[in-house]
Amino acid sequence: MTKILKIRRPDDWHLHFRDGDMMRDVVPYTARQFARAIVMPNLTPPITTVEAGRAYRERIRAAVPSGLAFEPLMTCYLTDNLDPEEVRRGFAEGVFTACKLYPAGATTNSDSGVTDVANIRGVLEVMADIGMVLCVHGEVTHSDIDIFDREAVFIEQVLRPLLADLPTLKVVFEHITTEEAVAFVQASGPNVAATITPQHLHINRNAMLVGGMRPHNYCLPVAKREKHRLALRKAATSGNPKFFLGTDSAPHARHAKESACGCAGIFNAPFALESYLAVFDEEGALDHFEGFASLHGPAFYGLTVNAETVTLEKRDCVVPEMLSAAGEEIVPFHAGQTLGWTYAG
Ligand code: DOR
Ligand code: ZN
Repeated sequence: MTKILKIRRPDDWHLHFRDGDMMRDVVPYTARQFARAIVMPNLTPPITTVEAGRAYRERIRAAVPSGLAFEPLMTCYLTDNLDPEEVRRGFAEGVFTACKLYPAGATTNSDSGVTDVANIRGVLEVMADIGMVLCVHGEVTHSDIDIFDREAVFIEQVLRPLLADLPTLKVVFEHITTEEAVAFVQASGPNVAATITPQHLHINRNAMLVGGMRPHNYCLPVAKREKHRLALRKAATSGNPKFFLGTDSAPHARHAKESACGCAGIFNAPFALESYLAVFDEEGALDHFEGFASLHGPAFYGLTVNAETVTLEKRDCVVPEMLSAAGEEIVPFHAGQTLGWTYAG
């Protein structure tokens, strides 16, 4: 008999949909598996107003295939001079669920990000006051810091001082990649949590660099050495409610990744649950999968758990070498590989 796993419908607490044709073609992949997703605001131009957030949400809703119930949860992109009242109003009107802190220059479309958190002190104070979550891309961007150290340095230079200054601020330390981040989150209060991507549970930096450069394994924060991957796997599968699912699925056309200056981002949405579940199975932690995928995130955000359930079956799932979106070829995470679990709806 096929082994099955039935869990509450999961949510994705960190996701890139883009806009236009790309958005229309990638939304169905996420809506098939997830009930809600925290949608990143790093469009060009970024989402910095309530009106832009509302309009983007409508465009996403219109791209959800009929018969699927999916709700995008919007985020506001923080800039050095964003008006705190815009954030307060967006939260009060139910448009913005969270704000996103990109250190300026850290990653794709982060040029308008924050140059110094001191510049957004007023916004952060309002957020702490109203209980709004801050999603943090935790990397320093100084050119003198090695790219593999950027997350660990961010903890000491930015995150620890920030939480000492505003100890009640709710922070999601996103897509963590290091044992230092795991330890920091574990040692922090209940107002600090983290998301973990499938790629950082599956690959270390060798997957990017051994035997040739492999641009489809390149994302930011970049995958680190093996000991960090093992620390992330332990945290994700531990049952600790501070750790939950956030894919950071980030579609880029194949030619933009296979380039002299390839874009950062891994497109994992089409087989996200299969990818995570392979890890939980390997770690002998299937009983902790529902918590990670479906319970810890809503609890942290103060949202209800989804009423519906989904079923996963222990049978092979072959990931295609290539998909197509917005008229472009796009290479999914695990392209050409076979995963041991299949999403059965
Ligand atoms: O790899 C990444 N891709 N990391 C990010 O932080 C942004 C994302 C994107 O938007 O492509
Ligand atoms: Zn991201």
